[in-house]
Amino acid sequence: MVKNLQLNNDGKLKHFLTIDGLSRELLIEILDTAESFAAISGNQIKKVPLLRGKTIVNLFFENSTRTRTTFELAATRLSADVLNINIATSATSKGESLLDTIRNLEAMHVDMFVVRHALSGAAHFIAQNSAEHISVINAGDGQHSHPTQAMLDLFTIRQKKPDLAKLKVAIIGDILHSRVARSQILAFNTVGVAEVRVIAPRTLLPAKVETLGVSVFHDLKKGLEDVDVAITLRLQKERMTSALLPSESEFYKCFGLTPAMLKHAKKDAIVMHPGPINRGVEIASSVADGPQSVILEQVSNGVAVRMAILSMAMQS
Ligand code: CP
Repeated sequence: MVKNLQLNNDGKLKHFLTIDGLSRELLIEILDTAESFAAISGNQIKKVPLLRGKTIVNLFFENSTRTRTTFELAATRLSADVLNINIATSATSKGESLLDTIRNLEAMHVDMFVVRHALSGAAHFIAQNSAEHISVINAGDGQHSHPTQAMLDLFTIRQKKPDLAKLKVAIIGDILHSRVARSQILAFNTVGVAEVRVIAPRTLLPAKVETLGVSVFHDLKKGLEDVDVAITLRLQKERMTSALLPSESEFYKCFGLTPAMLKHAKKDAIVMHPGPINRGVEIASSVADGPQSVILEQVSNGVAVRMAILSMAMQS
């Protein structure tokens, strides 16, 4: 059997690079561990000493608001020391290779890298080339994977709709360029969500997307029928190499989540978005800020879920 790079010899989490290959039990353990951290985030003293003496390096080669700050907060609340490397002012801008950057940071006796990179596979590469004691967490690599985002989304869904096996979840918009959608589909199917749908124009879907275990819709009204969870995605124009849409306004007309469109989902459906949101492009402001939206709860839950993943990977 091929050894999963993400697990140590005891089957415990060592790196967190992708949902692919992780068991349902492990994903549920992450969610359950995050529950206990979410409970302490309401306390006056939010810190626990679990990672005291450990050093975590945030290596973000791509921009981020939510992921970088919630990783920093998660590490701080676990009492770890955190280094935020500013890539724009680092030696990367002078031509230093990724491997040389890693070697130099290793020489400072750090314990973990949290990596965001525009290239798919960057976090895997670092995990394969780091010192034995180092854990690597993928904070988003190219179009490939954003596993901690998928876990915080799953955590938020379970908080609102605990019976995962009965749920119909729709992911709407730019699936083709979305590392979030890929990780969500894997996570939702691994834990046994009843149905995962993707709703998008043909030009924004990967080839053979149905082989990922999803039902495919090109009509938003039909796709939203009877769903419990509607997840919208940003058009990722920075990853589009050709014109895939007539215009943003045309996309909004057909695939924008407006109050009228949302009425086709279940009455108590929740609305989610990984952020950053583009109001009036994939979602109406009144929906993003409306009573069914849990978008900011996703951000809050990001801290607890990342605390769970950091602590599990560091303790293995
Ligand atoms: N959802 C997400 O990854 O957001 P950031 O790009 O702000 O981290």
